[in-house]
Amino acid sequence: MRELSFQMIINDPADPLLKAFAMAYPRASAPRVCRAPGRINLIGEHTDYNGLPVLPVTLDREIRIAFAGGSDSLVQLRAGDPGFPFCQFNNAASIPPSPPGSWGNYCKAAIHGLNEYFRVTTFPGMDAYVSGNIPIAAGLSSSSALVVAAGLAYLAILGIRLDEDLSRLELAQVLAEAEHYVGTRGGGMDQAILLLGEEGAACKIDFFPLRAEKVPLLTDYSFIVCHSLVRAEKTGDMMHRYNEGPLTCRLICALVERQVQTDFDSTVEIARLADLWHGHLCLTHEEVQSLFDRSLPTERMTLKQIAQRLNITTEEIRRRWLGDLKEPERGFHLRSRARHQLTEYQRVEAARDALQAGDADELGQLMNRSHESCATDYYVSCPELEALVAIAREAGALGARLTGAGFGGCTVNLVHNGLLEQFGAEVERKYYHAFMSRRQQTVELPERMLIARTSAGAGYLAPS
Ligand code: GLA
Repeated sequence: MRELSFQMIINDPADPLLKAFAMAYPRASAPRVCRAPGRINLIGEHTDYNGLPVLPVTLDREIRIAFAGGSDSLVQLRAGDPGFPFCQFNNAASIPPSPPGSWGNYCKAAIHGLNEYFRVTTFPGMDAYVSGNIPIAAGLSSSSALVVAAGLAYLAILGIRLDEDLSRLELAQVLAEAEHYVGTRGGGMDQAILLLGEEGAACKIDFFPLRAEKVPLLTDYSFIVCHSLVRAEKTGDMMHRYNEGPLTCRLICALVERQVQTDFDSTVEIARLADLWHGHLCLTHEEVQSLFDRSLPTERMTLKQIAQRLNITTEEIRRRWLGDLKEPERGFHLRSRARHQLTEYQRVEAARDALQAGDADELGQLMNRSHESCATDYYVSCPELEALVAIAREAGALGARLTGAGFGGCTVNLVHNGLLEQFGAEVERKYYHAFMSRRQQTVELPERMLIARTSAGAGYLAPS
């Protein structure tokens, strides 16, 4: 699995990261170090941008940044890895993005977002050295970990204290919004779990307002992360495919809002799907289901048909909700995507209850159903992920599903601790050797399976 080169780091003067920093920036003052972990999502996929809950855990893989104030407004980023070339830019009210795919954009996103939030007018510089061991383009949130770690570094440069001047909840919201700078229209799951997650527990996260509830993990079971070997990048075509989810949900909101206005109240506005269950409307799951049945056709809808139904032009739809998203060839799947939102919401609540009751069988079934829904109702799976979950279930996983945005990347598998070796050997044989040998492997991967272990949420390392 491709990852930033990283060695075990202890934060003392002999620490390789501090040494690398000192070599890279010989004139800089003594650096501080911050970190942000990766994450896996147990259940609740593609629900966050609709304000519906998710149930992720932190990983014991992380991004670390050694940083110090820089000269003038110059921000310098180094990573000591040829895949992450030197990047520098001027900190200012407007920071133009680097070409798509550039790693510097994730740091720019954090700095730009914090400048806007705090209405910064004097723009400090920063010298930073980045290292990490979160597999990249694997759906384990390495990019949001970079945004969060860069955000923590820059906060310290601004002299703003985490937990004192700014709460983790606020920071998670600011950085979720800030990450839109790179072009993906993600929700707030990743930034929230990275900042609010805890060692030894999962976290049920709800949005608007953002809140986190600690949920116990199962003692006799582990979550095994398996890489499909298909890169799940957040740029180019993948970004477009990801954005189709949140942007299509805006169309669903518009159609549902029209129905609600006709049926109940002409003043109601549905900014996001979660508004159906909360606030003014407070509908039950059954009522939401019936609303979807009445407002969304089962067959796909073209942009033209949607425009007719909303009584506006297709240009207006593009301007308000879609931007430059390409219309899918045979139209938008609205009903099935809405069904995924409703059923996944229910599964997240049920999964939290199953974890609290220590019911591994129930959790496994919910994970399996979530995967099916992601694949057939939300269209975010791919043939490799389908093969990998099928093999994992045969190999003894009680539950197996894609985790993160999908389209490749990793699966998460619920496996009894007594079965770990057997599970690993069977998946190795049937997926990595047999299935993938028939395909072109797209990722070099020394370590394709790992046992998910949790770690603390993001923060600063105590200076030595
Ligand atoms: C990515 C996004 C998240 C979330 C997941 C899918 O990780 O960054 O906001 O939408 O995909 O659940």
